[in-house]
Amino acid sequence: MEKVRLKVPATIANLVCGFDILGMAIDEPADDMEIRRLETPEIIIRHTDAFGLPEEPAENVAGIVLLKIMEHLKLKYGFEVIIHKKIKPGSGLGSSAASAAGAVVGANLLLGNILTKEEMVYYAMFGEKLASGARHADNIAPCIYGGITLVKSSDPVDIILLNAPDLWVTAVHPQVEVKTSDAREILKKTIPLKDAIQQWGNIAGLVAGIQNYDHALIRRSLNDVIIEPVRSILIPKFDEIKQKSLHAGALGGGISGSGPSVFMFSEEEKVSHTIAEIMKSAYDSISIESLVYVSRVNPSGIRIIKD
Ligand code: HSE
Repeated sequence: MEKVRLKVPATIANLVCGFDILGMAIDEPADDMEIRRLETPEIIIRHTDAFGLPEEPAENVAGIVLLKIMEHLKLKYGFEVIIHKKIKPGSGLGSSAASAAGAVVGANLLLGNILTKEEMVYYAMFGEKLASGARHADNIAPCIYGGITLVKSSDPVDIILLNAPDLWVTAVHPQVEVKTSDAREILKKTIPLKDAIQQWGNIAGLVAGIQNYDHALIRRSLNDVIIEPVRSILIPKFDEIKQKSLHAGALGGGISGSGPSVFMFSEEEKVSHTIAEIMKSAYDSISIESLVYVSRVNPSGIRIIKD
């Protein structure tokens, strides 16, 4: 195989209470990536979008991942990557993780499938480190494994693939800037034990709810007492959207990754579209442009596009 085309999905990290450990792949938006083997030991990155992302390999999240793979595996050849980015950078929908995960999955296919999924997560985390300063795997893991993943540990990499619930996901990306590095910087470095107890109760409840397809338990567990109270201040209309969505029948939801996107789960398609309208009109009312996506949980993650 000399060339591969991939559809690389957006991901929602944290899933409300699981900061840095839970994540989920969704269907839309998704990037298209083409990865080609080069005879020379170099990396070429090209974007067809207008986001102005760096193309110098050491400064590009896909590039840094491929440089690490070339170095560790002592490859005598290189890769060219063409990225058609549709997941907006800075959206909180795993844009950098998509480029990093797509690069490693593409390279692995061109190398004859020599890497395990854990190894692919390991390499892709170099991209996350470049993008946000932190080696977190909660966007990368669901992108590579599909569905919902639990990062039991990122060093060493230990990923648990959970069940994919039969739920709808509505996500809104208001066009305001929230940098992941800033959204991490403002978090408290220590937390009271009573908050920790409540939070790990919610995480355990959410994982049990997902594994047992127990929607009532998922609803009761989608509650974040540590991160959301601090970060939601950065997101206009957050409380209003959440309250109105819950009133309209959402199962629950919160900030997508580090924001500014907000997501909501619902059991029925009709409710997911009502929530899309609630989100859109909330931002219209304050003249903030927004993009809204209605998706299913994506059980397969990155897909190969056949020509
Ligand atoms: N878990 C990370 C955070 C995701 O919330 O900062 C960043 O996309």
